[in-house]
Amino acid sequence: RQGKRDRAFKIYGLVRDFYRLLLGKEIGAGARRYLESRRLAESAAETFQLGYAPAGWDNLVKFLAARGIKTEEMVQLGLAQTRESGGCYDRFRNRVMFPIWDSQGRVVGFGGRTMGDDNPKYLNSPEGEFFNKGRLLYGLHIARRSIRELGYAILMEGYMDVVSAYQHGVANAVASLGTAFTREQAGLLTAYTNEVVIAYDADAAGIKAALRAAEILQQVGCQVRIASITGAKDPDEFIQKYGLAGWQKIIQQAAPLVQFKLLQAVKAHGLSNKRKILQEVLPNLAAVASPIELEEAVKQTATVLQVNWETVLEEIKSFKKNTR
Ligand code: GTP
Ligand code: MN
Ligand code: MN
Ligand code: MN
Ligand code: MN
Repeated sequence: RQGKRDRAFKIYGLVRDFYRLLLGKEIGAGARRYLESRRLAESAAETFQLGYAPAGWDNLVKFLAARGIKTEEMVQLGLAQTRESGGCYDRFRNRVMFPIWDSQGRVVGFGGRTMGDDNPKYLNSPEGEFFNKGRLLYGLHIARRSIRELGYAILMEGYMDVVSAYQHGVANAVASLGTAFTREQAGLLTAYTNEVVIAYDADAAGIKAALRAAEILQQVGCQVRIASITGAKDPDEFIQKYGLAGWQKIIQQAAPLVQFKLLQAVKAHGLSNKRKILQEVLPNLAAVASPIELEEAVKQTATVLQVNWETVLEEIKSFKKNTR
């Protein structure tokens, strides 16, 4: 069992090294150009051990076979797929490769980005024994020192966001590998901090997912704020456009869950629909554990609704009574 795990880590490490090597060779020229077009610096590519999976059907299969690794094992590790007519072929072809590590920095899988616009944009290792998206946070082993030093973590959607942030001097960011943040991922973060700023993409999916992630983080006792990415579609684009100074402003202005929801509700329902707005934020108000945070949230709600704060408190009380 343990032997099998160690062997898997070793093979994934070999594969990472293979892809990295190829990124630097003639065959990786297109991939290097792609990374340049994304303005990704070489040093960041090195820190995050980026690589290139070449086009062609069996480059990796041959490489691993030459090192005594059986096809069944390649398939089992999600590196190759079997052909009906027999034999097998590389899972990742002609993609920029991002190794994905567990929190101890061991490679447990890969994400490969297409350099064109074929689908899927990102191809990940299949879910399995070693690779569970919902149990990993991309970049955690790199970010954890900075998370401790700064006292908070930034949660992003994608690999590119984390790498780009790092390149611009923001080292405390991790990614949930998509928008479905889980309780287990929350647990990984709380080992290092209980303060989290969520910086998901600016689109509707990102906002919806940020609210859900915030609730999960709150449930495990985190203090959460949500950043509003404006003028760009995601943290990568934002930080390239507005630099570190712009980024820090966005982090400073990140709003606690209730405040963020108030803004969203006002946008959605207009200021005059007080009942609607209140309905949106009441569950969150009722869930605020810290008295100081609650006072702040109640005040803000009262201001937005233009009512007395006592009224908001009454509403919270009856909400709690009705949901008990
Ligand atoms: P770029 O387009 O390269 O800037 O990536 P992005 O991070 O902005 O992509 P997006 O916001 O669409 O997605 C965020 C994260 O979701 C990615 O880093 C992936 O982990 C995941 N993701 C996005 N698209 C796909 C996909 O097609 N398949 C899979 N499996 N995951 C995806
Ligand atoms: Mn997408
Ligand atoms: Mn997105
Ligand atoms: Mn994005
Ligand atoms: Mn992006």
